[in-house]
Amino acid sequence: MYTQLEQRGMAQPPVNVATLRDMKGQGEPIACLTAYDASYAVLVDAAGTDLVLVGDSLGMVIQGHDTTVPVTVDDVVYHSRAVARGLRRAFLVADMPFMSYANPDQALANSVRMMQEGGAMMIKLEGGEGQIEIVEHLARHDIPVCAHLGLRPQSVHKLGGFRVQGRDVEKAEEMKRAATRLQDAGADIVLLECVPNELGKTIRDSLEVPVIGIGAGPDVDGQILVLYDVLDITQGRTPRFVRNFQAEHTSPLQAIQAYIKAVKDHSYPAPEHCFS
Ligand code: KIV
Repeated sequence: MYTQLEQRGMAQPPVNVATLRDMKGQGEPIACLTAYDASYAVLVDAAGTDLVLVGDSLGMVIQGHDTTVPVTVDDVVYHSRAVARGLRRAFLVADMPFMSYANPDQALANSVRMMQEGGAMMIKLEGGEGQIEIVEHLARHDIPVCAHLGLRPQSVHKLGGFRVQGRDVEKAEEMKRAATRLQDAGADIVLLECVPNELGKTIRDSLEVPVIGIGAGPDVDGQILVLYDVLDITQGRTPRFVRNFQAEHTSPLQAIQAYIKAVKDHSYPAPEHCFS
């Protein structure tokens, strides 16, 4: 299967869904980052990132919007295509933007664009139990899916700001149930954003699929951060879970390598990056 890549001198085969599941099984942390262009894609890949997300955070860090809401499918396809050209080993996931998966057929059509035009191997969508039908529809068509729970930035106007989610018992139970139902519907990864450590751990322990966290504590199967936060490019106030890895390094590659190492040896996230 990997003949072409072996011929190109690949020391390690590319990461795929099975690799990610095996990593969960073996307790090896999955190191993930966002990327938006080919040059950074080359760096994050060379540093050993397992999974790269072309996040709709591009609306904020690339386009300068206050939220991810204005991002379009064309925007993500454009950036995903560029990132795909820079990757050799990492698994590429593309974000489905706001209102690009409002019904199953629209979700399928836009996922196909992400994969065929953007080179993505999986799509990510935000939402809880309301997305079950969509995830089932995509899974039935063999589209790999990452379901994003917890703080869902596309719903920022409904949630009333970028806040920690699942702090009260009722909301935590709702999120646990949603995670299980999304997995059962066919989701291959669950991503948790801004939830208390205990909830991250409970959901990780209850699922067979990998659980990737961003501000979800240390007890999940992997971590993801926005690349520009890792590299200290983001100006102004950053979320509590962000750690600046550039501060102690001279090049972006070294900073990214330090992030990967910290995820793999469990030194990131530390208690100051977590919500309890
Ligand atoms: O858009 C994005 O970059 C994301 C990550 C923050 C997980 O969804």
